[in-house]
Amino acid sequence: MANKTKEAASAREIRREPVVLVVHGPNLNLLGEREPAVYGSTTLREINHRLVELGRELGVKVSTFQSNSEGAIVDRLQEARGRIDALIINPAAYTHTSIAIRDAIAALDSPTIEVHLSNVYKREPFRHHSTIADIVTGRVIGFGAESYVLALRATVSMVAVAGRTGVN
Ligand code: DQA
Repeated sequence: MANKTKEAASAREIRREPVVLVVHGPNLNLLGEREPAVYGSTTLREINHRLVELGRELGVKVSTFQSNSEGAIVDRLQEARGRIDALIINPAAYTHTSIAIRDAIAALDSPTIEVHLSNVYKREPFRHHSTIADIVTGRVIGFGAESYVLALRATVSMVAVAGRTGVN
């Protein structure tokens, strides 16, 4: 009986709550005020709150991070190595330029979903190129703040399937 209790406790430790890191790139701290016709009126704080709550409902821990600096985003991705189960990232303008963020995502080696609030393909041609599109698991684009919610739901299904099959 005592052994059974120990086994159950260690199984709980091994099957810890999955962790999903959500990273927001430059200028996304201004959501709600910044070009609302393009990005909507929801603030970053509201998006993060919704994701943490939804994560709680779905049984994952959601950690959020925003920076205007490419180096700080690379540092945060390096810190996450071996510590997260999946990444959701909107690199914002760095999507179109950053090899450093691409390399950090490749080094992270976790399932990754690329998110954009706006449909970048309906916008200027320089927004049509993503440095990470070919290394991410999937992309959610054009649904405003809802893009993040859809990405989190997809991530949780993916992590659950990986947990059941041992594949990611
Ligand atoms: C964005 C699209 C990018 O082109 C832009 O630079 C952003 C936000 C989006 O979420 O729609 O800052 O990533």
